[in-house]
Amino acid sequence: MQLQRVSIIGSGSYVPEKILSNSDLEKMVDTSDEWITTRTGIKERRIVEDGVSTSDLATRAALKALESAKVSPEQLDLIILGTATPDNLFPSTACYVHQKIAAVNASAFDISAACCGFVYSLTVGYKMVSSGASKNALIIAADALTKLTDYTDRATCVLFGDGAGAVVLQPHNQGHELLYSHLGADGSGTDLMILPAGASKMPASHKTVDERLHYIKLRGREVFKFAVIKMADLVIAAVKECSLTLDDVALIIPHQVNLRILESAAERLNISMDKIFVNIHKYGNTSAAATAIAFDEARNSGRLKKGDIVVLVAFGGGLTWGVNVIRW
Ligand code: ACO
Repeated sequence: MQLQRVSIIGSGSYVPEKILSNSDLEKMVDTSDEWITTRTGIKERRIVEDGVSTSDLATRAALKALESAKVSPEQLDLIILGTATPDNLFPSTACYVHQKIAAVNASAFDISAACCGFVYSLTVGYKMVSSGASKNALIIAADALTKLTDYTDRATCVLFGDGAGAVVLQPHNQGHELLYSHLGADGSGTDLMILPAGASKMPASHKTVDERLHYIKLRGREVFKFAVIKMADLVIAAVKECSLTLDDVALIIPHQVNLRILESAAERLNISMDKIFVNIHKYGNTSAAATAIAFDEARNSGRLKKGDIVVLVAFGGGLTWGVNVIRW
């Protein structure tokens, strides 16, 4: 089978209007703007209003991506949505988006890869288009983690925000080309970031509610160490696989997990922070959506120039990790 080259032909993103600032959090738990800023780099995050779900965020980002790609919903033959916070356990959130945008000719499914939802979905979409199975693929990453955040737990509630990002893929014509993807996982880390209850392993009960098991549990210090090493190793391996060097890379767009993690990874890579796209101060960690929103913002702010080598890199719950290399 002849594999086709694949292009990103449009992108879009959306974050809710409502802002939760560090000073707001100071009134809710025993924390301070100073602690949150120095430990995470986060100043504020966007949170969804009651009644808004992940598919609503995803739909807003998807419509912007379609507009930027000049592709109509009817032209889509595939929708892939990366999320850790689906509207329901089933049906898939991708099917809700399918209905909301009237993508009547598309298949639709979700990918569960926590913070790697975008790089995983992008990679699967890339392979689908590359194989000829799809000609117009909509790839979305969306999360509403604040719906599952325990606002009495200061160790987690300062970290998360909500949002969505999307791209449209087509066989390569003259757009921005996906050159390489790599995904990985380590199931021995399943308990490092987990939503313990509410599915088949521990269905909802009075006990699970009383024990606050429907909220995100996190072993932050261990995730921190894993993320620094993984981010650096993934970037080095990916550029090597593309017969490039770090000097050829114009911009790294990482999962927005913690500014200190990004700074430590930059140090490990021996590159300047100028080469790393950062927007965590505005949005916090938006899980799967973070890399997609950052990509769209980098594109809209003119950070990507024709011919630039751009590396998307993410790591997250599972544990999962992934990297994509793009020639802009
Ligand atoms: N305000 C004030 N103090 C706090 C807060 C807070 N919001 N949260 C924790 N503390 C306290 C702790 O209680 C602890 O106090 P103690 O020393 O008296 O016990 C102290 O601060 C240090 O706590 P640590 O957990 O060691 O703080 P650390 O420097 O590791 O920062 C953080 C915590 C920000 C979570 C960090 O570990 C981190 O960023 N981890 C990785 C990111 C992460 O896990 N993201 C979640 C998503 S997973 C993913 O996206 C890959």
